[in-house]
Amino acid sequence: MKRLIFFLLISLRVNTLLAGEGMWIPMLLSQNEAEMKAMGMRISAEDIYSVNKGSLKDAILQFGRGCTASFISSQGLILTNHHCGYGEIQKHSSLENDYLTNGFWAKNYAEELPNPGLTVTQLVKMEDVTEAVLAGVARDMTEARRAELIRNNSRKLIEEARKTTGLDISIRPFYYGNQYIMMFNRIYKDVRLVGAPPSNIGKFGGDTDNWMWPRHTGDFSLFRVYLSSKGEPADYSPENVPYQPEKWLPISLKGVEEGDFTFVFGYPGRTNQYLPAAAVKLITEVSNPPRVMLRGTRLEIFKHYSQTDPLVRIQYAAKDARVANAWKKMIGESKGIRRLNGIERKLEIEKQFTQWAASTPERQALYGGIVPAFNDNYAKLEPLTLASDYLSEAGMGVELFQLATRFVPLVEEVQKPKPDTARVSSLKKSLAGFVDEFFKDYYEPIDREVATALLSYYTKNQPVGFRPAFLEQITARHKGNVEAYVSVLFGKSMFASQQQLTQWLNNISPKTIKKLEKDPAWQAAASMRSFSNNSIDPAMRPLQQANDSLMRLFMTGLMEMQTERRFYPDANSTLRVTYGMVEGYNPADAITYNYFTTLEGILEKENPDIYDYVVEPKLKELHRGGDFGPYASSGGRMHVAFVASNHTTGGNSGSPVLNADGQLVGLNFDRCWEGTMSDLMYDPAMSRNISADIRYVLFIVDKFAGARHLVDEMTLIR
Ligand code: ARG
Ligand code: ASP
Repeated sequence: MKRLIFFLLISLRVNTLLAGEGMWIPMLLSQNEAEMKAMGMRISAEDIYSVNKGSLKDAILQFGRGCTASFISSQGLILTNHHCGYGEIQKHSSLENDYLTNGFWAKNYAEELPNPGLTVTQLVKMEDVTEAVLAGVARDMTEARRAELIRNNSRKLIEEARKTTGLDISIRPFYYGNQYIMMFNRIYKDVRLVGAPPSNIGKFGGDTDNWMWPRHTGDFSLFRVYLSSKGEPADYSPENVPYQPEKWLPISLKGVEEGDFTFVFGYPGRTNQYLPAAAVKLITEVSNPPRVMLRGTRLEIFKHYSQTDPLVRIQYAAKDARVANAWKKMIGESKGIRRLNGIERKLEIEKQFTQWAASTPERQALYGGIVPAFNDNYAKLEPLTLASDYLSEAGMGVELFQLATRFVPLVEEVQKPKPDTARVSSLKKSLAGFVDEFFKDYYEPIDREVATALLSYYTKNQPVGFRPAFLEQITARHKGNVEAYVSVLFGKSMFASQQQLTQWLNNISPKTIKKLEKDPAWQAAASMRSFSNNSIDPAMRPLQQANDSLMRLFMTGLMEMQTERRFYPDANSTLRVTYGMVEGYNPADAITYNYFTTLEGILEKENPDIYDYVVEPKLKELHRGGDFGPYASSGGRMHVAFVASNHTTGGNSGSPVLNADGQLVGLNFDRCWEGTMSDLMYDPAMSRNISADIRYVLFIVDKFAGARHLVDEMTLIR
């Protein structure tokens, strides 16, 4: 009965026009169709997602684990962001062949570069399996029993579906376990690098401009999906052939204008729109600040060394981008929540909820305890969260410790009374590969300095009991002198020497493992692991599980109470449609931002002395020549990027931005800083997604790189 009410509630949403907010399940999009059409859409919900016929969703891919991509040609060409392909581009780069700096363009299929380990995933269909997953679940049962039933039901359903379809199957909870949807996926494993612009186009503005508008980044790269000669997804083989998908996106050269309807189709990773005040406070006021400080510390050190040494710059480029990205996002998020009085707004909802619950005895019994229980749990979570943050941001910020941690599964296997020899040899092989890659991008002076700085903060800011035991060595053996500890660490540990480590790995045995136990990096890694496994996880897990159960009930209650509000499930790395309008915004008093940027802006930002703002000579030449071909705007300008009020998050990078006719007009890659709290609280006034104008992408491919053959593969709408 409850479930029935729940579904009535989601389908009875009132249509208040709140441009932008919401990440919708494609299978259920008919609910939004009227609104989308009112906003200007000319295609139907069925054109976007259908199980009966080919639809746009067939062209949308999850790229790797954390990004989105889409098919843009009949020959399996896919488009994603430069920052999504960054790891792959970097792996193929060296000082001699520096694709990261200079760009890469395959002239033909044979030159396209394979990327073992990289996959793209295509959703075949989704199915609501809530009834079957919750079969036997009753309201008064314990959470443990409930979870067990759900696990067992799901396992059976997944096995069955896998057998009948041969596809990759998963079941994902929505609305915190109020709804379950089964995903039928096809996974492609031969995905080759086709093209990437030089970094000063693909990453123009770098981390200085990251998360900001106005933006001038040509953040795109091109890959291609290959199939076996039998036409099936397969691992890389030279015999494989380009995939000819049933659906690829047509590309509009008409551009966008203010007020235009757009939608973004992709894989948003995670949002938390419905969290209670205590959780928002924990994230934005307790957890973010020290994480920001620890990341900022690392970034300063990276910068210092990268500025003077071009090899170090390449080695640390991807690491730097990774550390900087979340660092800046967290700063924006905390600021945004403060500006919106986010915590107070959440408290207000909780006050209403408490009153609403108290108005009948049944509600009081069901919902009355939720808010106090949240407050209690989050208070307990506070010191544990800090401990866990320091572990991952300070302890595991040391690369040497990350490396040592990688050896744990192998060491454990070898130490077993009867080790599995096949597993040992496969673990050895993959570790050997990892070690090579690790040292290719490792610069010890950076890591020493990072270790000294981070471990100093660690010992200073985390009390005994909330930090791993190895830190006590510093106090005991080195009288609190972190530098002395670090110098012993790097002086003695075999993890600091590729040669010693490789030799040790080749001769691994229970005997050589004895030696490992004296290694200071290993000791630290082991100590962090045991601290995490024995102290942090067991304390946090029950609280988090309790919160998950509370969230499920809170969600149900909120939906019963706020009948006027539109609900959508939080992002959970499943395919979603979000829609909004092309529109600028006012970031601060008296400032208005236009909705698009142009090539002129790139020249305004140019600064040959600052790496992030170096402009390619060829791009300047093209600008001077003013021949933008069919890619110019109607006013003859080269538009570079635009903003719109589509609700996006991490994972939406690489998502196609489509116009009212379902044609590709942009490539999503970021959000505006003033709106980055949208993962916790969307703000229609400030939350904007940033996209590269597809015409700029094509201009770079065609006019800048001279890779016209790639444009010729595409379907252009003029
Ligand atoms: N902020 C964007 C996202 O979250 C882009 C990140 C990559 N760019 C960078 N300069 N680090 O993924
Ligand atoms: N840049 C993000 C991504 O990589 C997108 C975002 O957070 O808006 O998915």
